[in-house]
Amino acid sequence: MTTTTIETTTDHKTQFLQETLAGLQSEPKFMLSKYFYDATGDRIFQQIMEMEEYYLTNAEMEILKYQAEQLSQAIAADGSPFDLIELGAGDATKSIHLLKYLTGNGLEFSYLPIDISEHVIADLEENLPKKLPGLDMKGLNGDYFDMLKRATELSGRRKVVLFMGANIGNMNIADAEKFCLSLKEILSPNDFLIIGFDLKKNPQKILAAYNDKAGITKAFNLNLLQRINKELDGDFNLEHFDHYANYDPASGACKSYLISLKKQIVNIGQNAIHFAENEHIFMEISQKYSLTDIDNLAEKAGFKPVQRFFDQQQYFVDAIWMVD
Ligand code: AVI
Repeated sequence: MTTTTIETTTDHKTQFLQETLAGLQSEPKFMLSKYFYDATGDRIFQQIMEMEEYYLTNAEMEILKYQAEQLSQAIAADGSPFDLIELGAGDATKSIHLLKYLTGNGLEFSYLPIDISEHVIADLEENLPKKLPGLDMKGLNGDYFDMLKRATELSGRRKVVLFMGANIGNMNIADAEKFCLSLKEILSPNDFLIIGFDLKKNPQKILAAYNDKAGITKAFNLNLLQRINKELDGDFNLEHFDHYANYDPASGACKSYLISLKKQIVNIGQNAIHFAENEHIFMEISQKYSLTDIDNLAEKAGFKPVQRFFDQQQYFVDAIWMVD
């Protein structure tokens, strides 16, 4: 048991180092936003979700809170039992509204949250049954696709997959297509996917969410440099980098960068990384979609759009797709 844990830790660290060096040795330089989320990154992301400017969380929460009945009706379909599988469940603060409605109305289903964090799954398994007595749940700790395959082996019930929080936006459109196609390939005809998208809207509104006045998003990005210092023996001086975000209304891509404020050399272990003054590191994409973009994505990935749920301001949509 102990050996497995140590090996896994080493594997993760090796992969983190290799991917970090590959990104910083590329031209232009980039980092992978999946590495934002260490314990400090998780805390800063919580603060982002509470920010005035970051409208996404409240918009999707409103959908789950006030339209749980309609969402439940859509996924209940013919009333046959199903597995509700949530990718990246976190603390289930949004999905709890749907779960409450489903359990309260006697629908027969099991909740299978998947998360890469062991800690998140342990917390959910301890706390969720207390909040929702009678909930049949089994947490799955690991990679989305591995665990989704495991879920299909655990039961032959139809599947409803939840992928909320606009997490699809942190992939570019080509990667989002590949991701959805891979999901479809694990699922069966008539299974559902409920997927959350942040919609294209006034560019200033979008930009403000990723360029907040208090500098929380800046701290979120800089924290990855700090993480590299701590875990990969780096010597980034955080004061020598600034955060820059921009939104392109034509493509819907909101991109975050870190800018080197001077010509400098940063060491990561034995590796020296050279920065020119004003050189940028691409940190993250938060892709925004139109309704047509969303339908195109569904079609390319082999899904059929079924229904859409919006918040009142129409900032956000949770789309229900069915495997074609
Ligand atoms: C997790 N994800 C959907 C967030 C987003 O809006 O792209 C991550 C984030 N990055 C900066 N602010 C929030």
